[in-house]
Amino acid sequence: MNLLKDGEELGVDLTYRYQSKAIGIANAVYLARKFVGNDKFAVILGDNIFDKLSENHRILFENSSDREAKLFFYNVKDPERFGVPVFEEDNKTLVRIEEKPKKPKSNLAVVGLYFYSPVVFDLIPTLKVSNRGEYEITDLNNILISRRKVSYSEVRGNWIDAGTFESLYNANKIIHERTTYANSRTNN
Ligand code: G1P
Repeated sequence: MNLLKDGEELGVDLTYRYQSKAIGIANAVYLARKFVGNDKFAVILGDNIFDKLSENHRILFENSSDREAKLFFYNVKDPERFGVPVFEEDNKTLVRIEEKPKKPKSNLAVVGLYFYSPVVFDLIPTLKVSNRGEYEITDLNNILISRRKVSYSEVRGNWIDAGTFESLYNANKIIHERTTYANSRTNN
């Protein structure tokens, strides 16, 4: 809130709901229910850094119109840090998401970008708190997957969950290199 304020400097109109306890992403989404109303909406996690998201424009919106949710995956070296999709033998049909699995069944991470229909506001109150004391977004996504209403796409560009010191450093490095490159091009 200190950084972005009301969004005017960025040309956007920001409004806030404050999650007073860190009890999970699904709970945070639920706080937005009155603001969202009956619209479809997007959730983006604040510690997720997306690079060149605009280049994903077609990917973002394909197959999403008649669905209750769209998830986005990204190929990573350390899938055990994330939600990881499990597919049927056809490697296409989504069966479930496993949250931080010890033995990930793919190298894909569920990134912190989710498209939802407002049906999720009826489902979130049915969630049970997880072992880590959170209302898990993965549990919500698994309900939607069991209803067969979820589409997904892989995102391109760089994606970083800056939730560890190493990944925060990498995110800074990527943005720094790009800024330096952009500045050197401007100066030439
Ligand atoms: C959360 C989700 C996880 C997802 C990740 C993306 O993890 O639970 O499924 O892959 O965000 O950043 P958390 O940051 O709560 O550990």
